[in-house]
Amino acid sequence: MSSPSKIIDAHARIVFDSRGNETIEIEIMTAKGLGVAAAPAGKSRGMKEVVPYPFGGVRESIKIFEKDIRRRLIGLDASEQESIDLMLKEIDGTDRFEKIGGNLAYVISLATALAASASLGKPLYEFLNPSASTIPLPLGNVLGGGKHAGKGAPDIQEILTVPLNPRTPFDAIMANVLVHKELGKILQKKLPNFPLGKGDEGAYAPNICIRNALESVVEAADRVSEMTSIKLGVGIDVAASSLWDEKIGCYIYENEGKQMTRDEHINYILSLIREFNLIYVEDPVEEHDFEGFKEILKAVPDVLVCADDLVVTNAKLIKKAGEIEAANAVIIKPNQVGTLTDTWNACKVAQGLGMITVASHRSGETPEGHLAHIAVGFGCKLIKSGVVGGERVAKVNELLRIGEKLGSKLRMATLGGG
Ligand code: PGA
Ligand code: ZN
Repeated sequence: MSSPSKIIDAHARIVFDSRGNETIEIEIMTAKGLGVAAAPAGKSRGMKEVVPYPFGGVRESIKIFEKDIRRRLIGLDASEQESIDLMLKEIDGTDRFEKIGGNLAYVISLATALAASASLGKPLYEFLNPSASTIPLPLGNVLGGGKHAGKGAPDIQEILTVPLNPRTPFDAIMANVLVHKELGKILQKKLPNFPLGKGDEGAYAPNICIRNALESVVEAADRVSEMTSIKLGVGIDVAASSLWDEKIGCYIYENEGKQMTRDEHINYILSLIREFNLIYVEDPVEEHDFEGFKEILKAVPDVLVCADDLVVTNAKLIKKAGEIEAANAVIIKPNQVGTLTDTWNACKVAQGLGMITVASHRSGETPEGHLAHIAVGFGCKLIKSGVVGGERVAKVNELLRIGEKLGSKLRMATLGGG
């Protein structure tokens, strides 16, 4: 009898992402199931990430799929994730998916896993890891700017909140939603002419200085803590590579009208962490500065110093960052590395070194909830997927459904103790 997860057909198409840009969607059909996945897109991308598309863009990836990949998938068993991911690497032949495109590799890998789990009658998180039972805490972007908004918004890309002691997935998500609502009221009062515009990830993008922005988010988080008895932590994603000017060797904060040397910048970030009691800081320095990360973590060892562009979900770079104590948390964006197998390896290496893994959306997203399954399956204690907007809410809503499925096995992640 043939396997229920044997691939019988595969199809590629162009669809649109949350920014209205074209992206690639892959459908994998097995004897008993269907898997469909479309790729997200980063805007403040790390230089060491895989290449999203070859020269020629989405259309070229689709041509390559039709010519070199589709037929090779048919007949394989979708549940054999590692060998399918390895085949994609062999077909590509480069280190960074330059030939076929990292986004094509990622959606084939994910659609295959989805088809396999559907064929076996299991949810994706359980197919990825049968013993998974921990729901990650949602880390939500509520106010931001940088590359995700237009001129006038804060230079720091994201200010985020995270519920620290929610009892249920519902309470966790609700806490961030309430912060977003309270923040809207606070901003409206402070800036009567601000029409509540939002950036790419659904976070408010007001014309406001960084300290005032942080003050506003802290106030909103305090109000929600009081209303709900859920403790909330506040954090930032500086996305410092976007602010770094290599030619002059300085960080440029256009909206603040500031220019800082590397050392001044490290002190500035430390001053924000201390002044606003931040519990999380992502990419505080540019993507080559392992030493700068290290200095910051050494100065504030209790803060989650999280590496995104520095390590780009790459197991080797994560190992380096963990071993030299440059970071104690790491962003996991599957399409930064291209396959679920490599994403899993990245998580294992990070968790083996005691780092917290943060499953993350991209600023350009698709309205799918798969990231929630990846986060649960791969043991991520945090999921960074935004607070409002259909493509953001799709992920946190999926956490609710996974929570129901887990039933009495469900545990909420906690951040204490590594
Ligand atoms: P992205 O950035 O625009 O590359 O998705 C998000 C982030 O820096 O976390
Ligand atoms: Zn980031």
